[in-house]
Formats: sequence, C-alpha cells, structure tokens
Amino acid sequence: MLGALYFFMIFSFTSFLQATATLQNLPILSFDEGYTQLFGDSNLMLLKDGKTVHISLDERTGAGFASQDLYLHGFFSASIKLPADYTAGVVVAFYMSNGDIFEKTHDELDFEFLGNIRGKEWRIQTNVYGNGSTGLGREERYGLWFDPSEDFHKYSILWTDDQIIFYVDNIPIREIKKTKAMGSDFPSKPMSLYATIWDGSTWATSGGRYKVNYKYAPYVAEFSDLVLHGCAVDPIEQSPGCDDSHDDLNRLSNPTALISPDQRSKMAEFRKKYMTYMYCYDHVRYPTPPPECVINPREASQFQGSDGVKFGGRHRRHGKRHHRTPAAAKGREAITTL
Ligand SMILES: *[C@@H]1O[C@H](CO)[C@@H](O)[C@H](O)[C@H]1NC(C)=O
Repeated sequence: MLGALYFFMIFSFTSFLQATATLQNLPILSFDEGYTQLFGDSNLMLLKDGKTVHISLDERTGAGFASQDLYLHGFFSASIKLPADYTAGVVVAFYMSNGDIFEKTHDELDFEFLGNIRGKEWRIQTNVYGNGSTGLGREERYGLWFDPSEDFHKYSILWTDDQIIFYVDNIPIREIKKTKAMGSDFPSKPMSLYATIWDGSTWATSGGRYKVNYKYAPYVAEFSDLVLHGCAVDPIEQSPGCDDSHDDLNRLSNPTALISPDQRSKMAEFRKKYMTYMYCYDHVRYPTPPPECVINPREASQFQGSDGVKFGGRHRRHGKRHHRTPAAAKGREAITTL
C-alpha cells in the first residue's frame, strides 16, 4: 500500500518534471509556418528573423494574426512587449477562440492587456467562455510585478481536457478546473490562437474614461517566441491531424503533474498581491455568484469595492479568415474556407 503510494508519488513527480521541462523547450514556428495575418494590412510587420511580429494600432486600423490551424488542447505561448508610455484605450489581446466557426456556441480563453494613462502600468485580464457562455463573464484582473512595456515577457495558456492554466513568465496565475458546476462553460471544441491590437476606448481604461489618443500613435505590440504545441484538429469532424506522439500532453492531463507545490504557492502569492478584480466577488454583476465560485472570506475583503467594473466588447475580427486543414488532411485539399 505504502509502496504503491510511494511509487505513485515518484511517478507523478517525474512526470511533473518532464512536463515542466517539455513546456520550457518547445519548438518555435516561424510566422509563415504557423500563422496568418487576420487584418491590418501594413500594420502587421514580420521582422527579418521570420519569427518576430509587430502589430500596431494607428488612426486607420489595428492589426492581428491567427494560427493557421485549430487545436484541441495544448500549450500556447508568446513573448510579448507592449507599447510604452500613454496607452489608454489600447487593447492587446492574446487569446484562443473558435467564434468564427461556432457563432452561438463558441469557446474562448483570453489574455487581454488593457492600456493605461502615462506613468501607470498596463493592467491585464484573463477570461474564459465555453459553449457560448458570453452572458457570464469570468474575468479576473491583475497588476504585474514588472512593466510589460519595458521588455519581453512570456504569457502562456495551457489547456487540457480538464484544466486550464494561465502563466506569466512560467508562473501560474490562474487555474480553471473542469467541474460539474461549470458544466459546458469549460471550453471543449478546437480553437485557434489569436493576437490582436485594437481601439478599446469605450471600456478598456478606467471604464472608458481615458480614450486612445492618436497623437501618440502608432502603438506597437511586439510578439516573439510563438509556441503552438497541441493537436491540430479539423473543427467540424474533430478528427485529429496529429498522431499520438503528443505523449507530453497526455502526461499533462494528469492533474498532479500540472502545478508543483512551489508553483502553487507562487500562484497564491501572486493572486494575493496583484489580483485587483475577480468575478466571483462582483456583487453588482452577480448578486448570486456563479456556481463554480468558492467564496473565501480573505479574498472577499481583498475585492471589496472592486465590483461594477466595465467590461468590453468582443475582439475585433475583420473579414473572413481561411483555415488550413490540419496536417492529416493536408494531402487532400489544401485550403478550406469556413
Ligand atoms: C452547447 O450548447 C448547445 C446550444 O445551447 C447545446 O445544444 C449543447 O448540448 C451544448 N454542448 C454541451 C457540451 O453542453
């Protein structure tokens, strides 16, 4: 009995180490291999290395790109440097979605960076929607322990069958577990990865009080080290385009393998120090907290008076996009328009 427990502990610790090691050393695709421009014409600029992309917002347009494939689960990551100085109203989003395929039942996982007035740092927000649950925002907002416009920092999303983790510089900042209470609001269909910059003047900074000032344009967000590590899937047939070589991801669906005790205490510390808003404690929006919320008295006092925050519109998408069929189907038809 003890032997079995011991064996299990060793096993899960080993798989944790492997999982962590795997997440730190994933291949970086060139832009042309993995991504495609969504909108913004010349406001998307690919640098000479073929891997670093600048997207910018000026008075004409924002810009954005997306992964060519859709993925069912995986690890998705980018190093991002945000525009500096006065950035009120500017929104930079790094997210996953299938909203252009499943209009009424879409899934989404968001990192959103909400600009700020001069001298004040960016705020970031995470959110999740599942199966069209757009009537129930699950936003959290945070400050950061660094100025995200000064240098590149790594923002990652891990999505498995039963768990989602958001990371900043490899520190987990939010964990979402698939529970009965959450039901189908947990994302379950293949999603693409997106990065966009756009004008969120109506809501992004102090609920829309500070707007984009184009005197300071262009606002340039830099993306590099783009990682797409998952199983490319045909969104309709849901037949995987990859083989079973994603052992590391299977290992990741062992929950004990996901967050080590040390990481877990870092996450708790981050949330205590830097989280400024959490939907479970927004009594104006949710007089009765959503079913998955576990109310904690310490957190309740942390978020006292943070309710009534204004939340913004949907991500800007311009025009129809083309989906490449995933690897398995590539031999047949190269391009599918959905
Ligand atoms: C998603 O929503 C649709 C429409 O409301 C519903 O028919 C379907 O059963 C839901 N899917 C899941 C997995 O709950």
